Amino acid sequence: MTDHLAVTRAAAERLAALVPGGAHTYAKGPDQYPVTAPGVLRSGRGCRVWDLDDNEYIEYGMGLRSVGLGHAHPEVVEAVRRSLELGTNFTRPAVVELECAERLLSLVPGADMVKFTKDGSSATTAAVKLARAHTGRDLVGICVDHPFFSYDDWFIGTTTMDGGIPPAASELTIGFNYNDLPSVRDMFDRFPDRIAVVMLEGVRAEAPEQGFLEGLRELCTRHGTVLVFDEMIAGFRYDIAGAQGLYEVRPDLSTWGKALANGFSVSALCGSRDLMRLGSRERDGDDVFLLSTTHGAEVCALAAAIATMEIYQREPVVEHLHRQGARLADGLRKVAARHGVGDHVSPLGFPCNLVFTAADREGNPSQAFRTLLLQELVDRGVLAPSLVVSYSHGDADIDRTLDAFDGALAVYARALDGGIDQFLRGRPSRVVMDHRPIGVHAALGGSIEPERRAGDR
Ligand SMILES: Cc1ncc(COP(=O)(O)O)c(C=O)c1O
Repeated sequence: MTDHLAVTRAAAERLAALVPGGAHTYAKGPDQYPVTAPGVLRSGRGCRVWDLDDNEYIEYGMGLRSVGLGHAHPEVVEAVRRSLELGTNFTRPAVVELECAERLLSLVPGADMVKFTKDGSSATTAAVKLARAHTGRDLVGICVDHPFFSYDDWFIGTTTMDGGIPPAASELTIGFNYNDLPSVRDMFDRFPDRIAVVMLEGVRAEAPEQGFLEGLRELCTRHGTVLVFDEMIAGFRYDIAGAQGLYEVRPDLSTWGKALANGFSVSALCGSRDLMRLGSRERDGDDVFLLSTTHGAEVCALAAAIATMEIYQREPVVEHLHRQGARLADGLRKVAARHGVGDHVSPLGFPCNLVFTAADREGNPSQAFRTLLLQELVDRGVLAPSLVVSYSHGDADIDRTLDAFDGALAVYARALDGGIDQFLRGRPSRVVMDHRPIGVHAALGGSIEPERRAGDR
């Protein structure tokens, strides 16, 4: 039998020998996938990707949710091609910095100023720094139900992947729960006048309950604490203007990235002039070194962001993401029910940002069964660490994916009955990391149930 992955596998092995974790994002690494999945991809177009052996897959997750329109979207590619002719980085700001700032600020309600950078992590860390400078306080309150905010010490130090981080760096990070105002009040009661910033995703797996975001806004205002919405995923997916656009609650600062430039590296910190001007040079007091990097305003990436935003404003991208996700979720529920595994495999989250469960015979989340499911989907030409769709996922792609689930879940059902070992080829995948109980949350004796981070890191 010919090995249909020979070239791809050899390249993946060489990559793993050269790059720690075998990838530049842990969520892309070999330990996150079945051994039968393509370890390296050569190209992508729309919602399709190809490995080095020319195998084709329908892809979900789309560059960790960064490619909202689809791979190699012609209009974005053309905008970048044009910008490349003009140069990529100068000794003074490029005019594209002005154009991109005006475009993004026209979309973010209530924000007066913006600073661009390359990674979401840098943007959230900048928000923390600005809030600390503004308040003169040290504590950072994060929502413990949200899986990821930054690779920097203040956040990663609160996870099990905390090697190399002195405890002092993360001991100032405390937690509260989503849709749980009493846990927020408790945090403020325990640490009066110490909390610089409260950060959360305004919306993630569940919708905010009536009054939650409003209550949070009110508590932060009352305590003089900076409220930050991390719109990295919600922006350009749940709504162009993220959670603040959907629910009309205004944070003081918000952080953007992911789909903002259709996979090009652009993220942003937006906020009121009052706060953001702490990063300017025309003020008294200590200067704040706010997002000043060599590559922060790389011309072609900002050109990609402008083209991407134009398309989102002109075309029903967000509606499409919701509709296709709903079609997929409905279809998956039906297919799973047909195979009698509806309690084991089911879609989870908002249609525009779907993940799925994979449970064992006893109903417990299982890496082995997740790996089996991914393996069977890969065999059927679908690469789906999540079910996060893009503007390029058409009806036919969704239907083909559901056919793949049909075949995969038939195997899943047999593995539930007869044991997984005879079906799973190779070892199970692993989670990247778990959260550790932190700060107030730990003091309250709560345990943190980490959301499955499929496609996140
Ligand atoms: C909600 C959220 N915030 C921040 C980040 C960090 O973004 P980046 O990976 O671009 O540093 C992520 C990345 O997964 C995220 O999901």
